[in-house]
Amino acid sequence: MIVQPKVKGFLCVTAHPEGCAQNVAEQIEYVESSGKIKEGCKSALIIGASTGYGLASRICAAFGCEASTVGVFFERPADSAKERPASAGWYNTAAFSAEAKKRGLYAANINGDAFSDAIKEQAIEAIKKSPQGKVDLIVYSLASPRRTDPKTGQVYKSVLKTVGAEFSSKTLDTDKGEVFSTTIPCATEQEVFDTVKTMGGDDWELWIKALENAGVLAEGCTSVAYSYIGPKLTYPIYREGTIGLAKKDLEKAADRIDSILKLHRGKAFVSVNKALVTQASSAIPVVPLYLSILYKVMKEKGIHEDCIRQIYRLFSKQLYNGNFLDFDDCGRVRIDDLEQRRDVQDAIMEIWPKVDSQNLRQLTDFDSYKSEFLKLFGFGLPKVDYGKDSKLDAEI
Ligand code: NAI
Repeated sequence: MIVQPKVKGFLCVTAHPEGCAQNVAEQIEYVESSGKIKEGCKSALIIGASTGYGLASRICAAFGCEASTVGVFFERPADSAKERPASAGWYNTAAFSAEAKKRGLYAANINGDAFSDAIKEQAIEAIKKSPQGKVDLIVYSLASPRRTDPKTGQVYKSVLKTVGAEFSSKTLDTDKGEVFSTTIPCATEQEVFDTVKTMGGDDWELWIKALENAGVLAEGCTSVAYSYIGPKLTYPIYREGTIGLAKKDLEKAADRIDSILKLHRGKAFVSVNKALVTQASSAIPVVPLYLSILYKVMKEKGIHEDCIRQIYRLFSKQLYNGNFLDFDDCGRVRIDDLEQRRDVQDAIMEIWPKVDSQNLRQLTDFDSYKSEFLKLFGFGLPKVDYGKDSKLDAEI
């Protein structure tokens, strides 16, 4: 079947098998050509391993450190009868696993709800079967709109709203390429609570406790979860909004998890990463317009990084290679340092008030935003023949 992109708002409902494989191959090539990471992890569990920052983390662990990896994710296989391709994360994982196998690396895939006890148990079993039998790195990189509490069965849904007062801002219709004004409503107390339950630190802590109870934490085990702060411009919708409160909860959980891991001479921390086009970030109002400007400014300054470059830097300059973690005043690692640079933010603030639908393509890198978005689903990669039939089924 010839697979074409079908974009619906901030989602593309199709994914291209060869395109996704090429995307993964490029990331592996970047890591391998950048050099092996010394004293790296030997066995990693990546929760949210199929796309975005989690996939980049798995690639750095496997191809940079030669680690065994257990990847947990929630992806959809293809339905050939209905001519429905699998999700991008499924094809990414199929490509990752094939390459890991070629290099003799242990790679186990667990597809299902990471918030559930059953998936935690499956991941523990897969860790026990790995050559090391334990994990020395746990990356928590989930981005999910809902969570079912494993103890009570209650379903929490996260919302992307402001807290305290509504907020009006420019935003971007990424389908039409139009800049327009929007007002983001204020969340109710219940919505704030539910968002914190979904995207906060609760589940990260449950994972660590489950791994500890199962005796699969290696000496010196490190755990990292990813967070975002961003510019003042997006504070009302991000840092001071519902999602920001969830991220603050995640940061608090890092302290509690750190105490558990210290018993194993390990540590836990939050890494604040740069804003990038991923399936998760494209759903946040205002952020796509900010990203289009950010890409332009950072590319012009020659300091743009994508997920794999961000995570390779985290692994090679902070976590491993004989380096030490460089914490900010709140105990977080900041690989968003280049995004937060004064000259970068000043340049963005100069563009922001001027940008409208007419000058969008001159003042921002909206074209890169669009192409990066399609690339997430395997479209627009130079080495792929999109006129050729693709086999939809892929083994993970
Ligand atoms: P993404 O959407 O690319 O990846 C999300 C991952 O979570 C996928 O592997 C997906 O399969 C998995 N997942 C979602 N729900 C699941 C469930 N119930 N069970 C199992 N797996 C599930 O997202 P992205 O952007 O890579 O985000 C990962 C983390 O990085 C998030 O915590 C996000 O807040 C953070 N982050 C993202 C930034 C960005 O600009 N994209 C910037 C800084 C931090």
